[in-house]
Amino acid sequence: MSWNIAEKPIRACVFDAYGTLFDVHSAVAGHRQRIGGQAQAMSALWRQKQLEYTWLRSLMGRYVDFDTLTADALEYAMDSYAIDDQPLTRDLLDAYRELSCYPEVPGVLQRLRDGGLPTAILSNGTEATLRHASRSAGLDNSLDRILSVESLQIYKPDPRVYQLAVDALDLPAEQILFHSSNAWDAAGAATFGMRVAWINRRGAIPERLPDGPDLELETLQPVPDLLGLG
Ligand code: LAC
Repeated sequence: MSWNIAEKPIRACVFDAYGTLFDVHSAVAGHRQRIGGQAQAMSALWRQKQLEYTWLRSLMGRYVDFDTLTADALEYAMDSYAIDDQPLTRDLLDAYRELSCYPEVPGVLQRLRDGGLPTAILSNGTEATLRHASRSAGLDNSLDRILSVESLQIYKPDPRVYQLAVDALDLPAEQILFHSSNAWDAAGAATFGMRVAWINRRGAIPERLPDGPDLELETLQPVPDLLGLG
């Protein structure tokens, strides 16, 4: 994939939260012993259901916030694996509010800001939970904005979500570099007109959706160098 920064300069960096900055599987990982051998599969199903519920509820016009939907998805995943343990459910939801960030994230955000590029989260998460997660991961001082779909009551990849970043940053879409580990979210932002880096942390194959990313990276680490921030 080609990347010519001089051709179309980037004026701000926007990040998806879950899976991109925060490791969604770190909640289950912290309680693996209590779940047993099904822990990894349960975590994957939890995430998959959570995303499906965002898409389905958006199509149905039946919004509930991301915290509620995350709890619904966990209930489904635990039920699927016949795990009936209320204290564990509570602990997993508490852990989800304080997910670990990926190791390169604090340094990358800091370098971007030091280089004069505003940074923002654009996420399905609620603003309060995103603020809490950013604080607990030590990222609150390296983020200029936290943008949540809450005000719209619709989820990604509805184009109105990406418009939130354009409005908040007061920049045209093509001057914003959007980063997401979720290929479908990357496609949503690219279709909207943003420049897009797909952070393919898990070696996924490309989606068959309109408009692919400008860049595919394994982590966020190379981003400041690619943007010419020495
Ligand atoms: C988010 C989900 C898509 O943070 O990961 O918006």
